[in-house]
Amino acid sequence: MNKQTEPFLLDATAEQVSQVGISRPHESAHLHVAGTATYTDDIPELAGTLHAALGMSTRAHARIKSISLDKVRAAPGVVDVLTVDDIPGTNDCGPIIHDDPILARDVVQFIGQPVFIVVATSHDAARRAARLGTIDYEDLPPVLSPQAAHEAGSYVLPPMHLTRGEPAARIASAAHQDSGKIHLGGQEQFYLEGQISYAAPRENDGMQVWCSTQHPTEMQHAVCHMLGWQAHQVLVECRRMGGGFGGKESQSALFACCAALAAWKLMCPVKLRPDRDDDMMITGKRHDFVFDYTVGHDDEGHIEGVKVEMVSRAGFSADLSGPVMTRAICHFDNAYWLPNVQIDGYCGKTNTQSNTAFRGFGGPQGAFAVEYILDNVARTVGKDSLDVRRANFYGKTEHNVTPYGQTVEDNVIHELIDELVASSEYRARREATRAFNATSPVLKKGIAITPVKFGISFNVAHFNQAGALVHVYNDGSVLVNHGGTEMGQGLNTKVAMVVAHELGIRMERVRVTATDTSKVANTSATAASTGADLNGKAAQDAARQIRERLAVFAARKAGVEPSEVRFNDDLVSAGELRVSFGELAREAYVARVQLWSDGFYTTPKLHWDQSKLQGRPFYYFAYGAACSEVLVDTLTGEWKLLRADALHDAGRSLNPAIDIGQVEGAFIQGMGWLTTEELWWNKDGKLMTHAPSTYKIPTVNDCPEEFNVRLFQNRNVEDSIHRSKAVGEPPLLLPFSVFFAIRDAVAAVGDYRINPPLKAPATSEGDPGRRRRRARSRGAASLSWRNDRRKRAPAGAPGLSPLGRVDGHGAGGRSRRAPPLR
Ligand code: MTE
Ligand code: HPA
Ligand code: MOS
Repeated sequence: MNKQTEPFLLDATAEQVSQVGISRPHESAHLHVAGTATYTDDIPELAGTLHAALGMSTRAHARIKSISLDKVRAAPGVVDVLTVDDIPGTNDCGPIIHDDPILARDVVQFIGQPVFIVVATSHDAARRAARLGTIDYEDLPPVLSPQAAHEAGSYVLPPMHLTRGEPAARIASAAHQDSGKIHLGGQEQFYLEGQISYAAPRENDGMQVWCSTQHPTEMQHAVCHMLGWQAHQVLVECRRMGGGFGGKESQSALFACCAALAAWKLMCPVKLRPDRDDDMMITGKRHDFVFDYTVGHDDEGHIEGVKVEMVSRAGFSADLSGPVMTRAICHFDNAYWLPNVQIDGYCGKTNTQSNTAFRGFGGPQGAFAVEYILDNVARTVGKDSLDVRRANFYGKTEHNVTPYGQTVEDNVIHELIDELVASSEYRARREATRAFNATSPVLKKGIAITPVKFGISFNVAHFNQAGALVHVYNDGSVLVNHGGTEMGQGLNTKVAMVVAHELGIRMERVRVTATDTSKVANTSATAASTGADLNGKAAQDAARQIRERLAVFAARKAGVEPSEVRFNDDLVSAGELRVSFGELAREAYVARVQLWSDGFYTTPKLHWDQSKLQGRPFYYFAYGAACSEVLVDTLTGEWKLLRADALHDAGRSLNPAIDIGQVEGAFIQGMGWLTTEELWWNKDGKLMTHAPSTYKIPTVNDCPEEFNVRLFQNRNVEDSIHRSKAVGEPPLLLPFSVFFAIRDAVAAVGDYRINPPLKAPATSEGDPGRRRRRARSRGAASLSWRNDRRKRAPAGAPGLSPLGRVDGHGAGGRSRRAPPLR
């Protein structure tokens, strides 16, 4: 892998040692590798800690006639069983619309919905007992797909509509028309550390909750709402998560509430850590979408008009489906000027898990649709898809207003693509794939370049605020606390670097502590990729105030102006004065200078009218592009990513090593979404892919041998933290290039004249219904069916060896391993 480590040049004065813009290891890397990083389950347990497990619905939609919990109560180790009747406040943990019961009352709305809480002396005892509950149901008709919800007009929110120009007329008058449906699957967040909350009662009606969450403040609110308490009674803390990926933005609340409810009722510490299967059965995922589109274009492939209907699977409640749909609508343009466009968004209410945030938050779904449409347009007009994409790019000074009315002021997609085309040798390699395919009947190569433009800011304007607290102790060491959470993305590292830079000290002096609702109040979720933008600026504000106070103090000592004081590399200089930062802090303390400060930041320039879907929802855009080349076995559907080149705009990166890690991780995660990760519910609405045995995330083997990830040198035109750009989510769109390279390879079979009807995820297994029928008719487990299929390939068919691996891409079988307690 290509590691880019050269430092970026920053605004710092020439003599100053920059603490930002350089590659540094993650602040906890040494703890991660040594296994000594404390995750919530590693916190030493308090005496008397009990363990909770959830009893879940086995029906997709039903009225609860009666619940029998006697066997649960009688099971070994069980201390108590709680139901909705035990909730003293409100039975709701929904983030926006309050339609999210913590525990079901009367009606269950999906298979996996929590109905009761078992509290026992051990984790295992609680889990075993939870299976002993029996619920008598009266079934109600379930809605199990977004299309069915759409047909029934059943939505969790009112539909959203956005129109510009005259799409219908322009489609009709265009030289070519095309229409179709695009199926795009959902995705499980698959954080390595599952959901977990540990609650402990505190004196005088208080509660402390350690929670793996991206949103401690919302957890605080949810627990208060449930107990009928005030915010100041609850303290939520999160040192780090083993991944969140959006799955812990709102949906950590259910676990925080259940743990806190049990802790409150029993007046002892209670931990709730669902196992992976339960976690996947209970929590929401990335929304799957079905798009229905009509497009009109000219002979060059310019889109003249386009209409798209987006139907998402919201699940049984609203959760964040509204803002996710808004972001999908605001990313249907991706990098393209769409003069005449109509977008209609519907959040289908289904009797499945309530879908939620996942890296990109609807943006990837919206952009995927326009990329699919353009991929078709290119084949229709017989042009290279890159040329068609390029022909539709936003202009720099004209054709630069998005359908939602924001002018694109920082467009760098043209030069970014030029750089990638050159560095990836796209043109020559495209010719080479064509030449290869001409003589290879079974194995086909495909190549594609896709662009990314991703809007940065929460699309709910008031979430774009952050606070921080910086302490300089009188030995010159620094403790930083901010409202963001660490989930592996390196936020604490970046914030520490910003503070070190501001104070002119080395990173080793700075330590970032756990996120804690009692330190910084009213925080936003660490989400929308804004963690470093918001909290970096807030921490910079706090550090700057301390530096200014220290500068005044040092200037007085040295008899110079405060502006002449320099803080650099742990040394403070003013006139003749040279003093270490630690010494100055000590002296300032004795002189009674306040050595700590808070800091605050709000993102400027934002305005948004949600009813009209118009305004400036984004402070700026992040750009990127990737080129992927694949080899597809057109008999088995197996494929391999041969090479990927990604060029990504992180502005003036705060930490290139961390940002490259984010790009690599997002690339592989997005590739998994589009190729191997398949969520599959059976006819009763039960999610059957609820463990890694059946839900296939990428492994290290799926990384391409040649993986060139580089950052595009580009200072943010907006005054972001050190002119960097948010990097967490946008690169998730880069692996669109993998999907469209596969589609290119498949199209080779029809001499590039037919648009392959490829659904995402493009698993090598094909459609689950067909797969099931075949497996049944063979009476064999799916794994042996896979082996069968391998054997049935014609003798001597080239290339089974390059792709032949049993760990392969498809989920091997639907029930290869029965989870121990299910
Ligand atoms: N990287 C790691 N390692 N783990 C994560 O859970 N979440 C992603 C992204 N990168 C995630 C990650 C998501 S969904 C978001 S919104 C951002 O990180 C949040 O962090 P940031 O705003 O600090 O970039
Ligand atoms: N991203 C993540 N979470 C959010 C957003 C967003 O754009 N808007 C509201 N919550
Ligand atoms: Mo990220 S989906 O905004 O948590």
